[in-house]
Amino acid sequence: MNRECMVLTVILAVVSSQCSGGIPDTERQSFLDAHNTLRSTISAGKYVANGKNMPAAKTPIANMTWDCEIEKSAQKVSDTCIFAHSKNRTNLGENIWTMWASYKLSVNGMAKKACNSWEVEFQKFGWADIKLTPSVFSSGIGHATQMAWARSTKLGCGISLCKENQKVLVACQYRDAGNFINSNVYDPK
Ligand SMILES: *[C@@H]1O[C@H](CO)[C@@H](O)[C@H](O)[C@H]1NC(C)=O
Ligand SMILES: *[C@@H]1O[C@H](CO)[C@@H](O)[C@H](O)[C@H]1NC(C)=O
Repeated sequence: MNRECMVLTVILAVVSSQCSGGIPDTERQSFLDAHNTLRSTISAGKYVANGKNMPAAKTPIANMTWDCEIEKSAQKVSDTCIFAHSKNRTNLGENIWTMWASYKLSVNGMAKKACNSWEVEFQKFGWADIKLTPSVFSSGIGHATQMAWARSTKLGCGISLCKENQKVLVACQYRDAGNFINSNVYDPK
């Protein structure tokens, strides 16, 4: 093994052992990729929301990083198997998603499905204003704006199989919390 290869092995070991238990690392990476692809595309002024090219960010929108404590908190929410927001959050935003099937589901691939369903709100409903006015919020884009929210930089998510594996519940939590009414999702150039 050459030196570069050894260095890489050590780095990968650190990344994959950062959270004990919980969801597979592939799902963690998938949650991060979905959020950060959206964020970096918006930041660069390349995001098109239902035909509307959104302006670039004044200062780059930081990518999110994974937080094991937040993951644990989100996993408790998904483990309830109830499609409802948790009530006792302090400075934590929250997105939830569920699906049912007539066959047994697996957690693999669920991060991508959940994130797609949230982001697609920008395509379905457009993104009328970077400022989250009451009317922008009620247009149905609240999950997507939490994904994009510039000041939410820590992410943790849980995935739970329910009802004999025929139902899945996904919960992501965000610190700092996003979606403050009349605040900007991000500051435009
Ligand atoms: C942020 O994440 C995206 C998607 O994973 C990646 O393409 C981009 O290079 C990252 N940006 C920074 C500054 O790390
Ligand atoms: C919310 O309450 C539940 C049940 O009491 C607890 O397990 C969980 O850790 C709490 N979450 C937060 C973010 O305080």
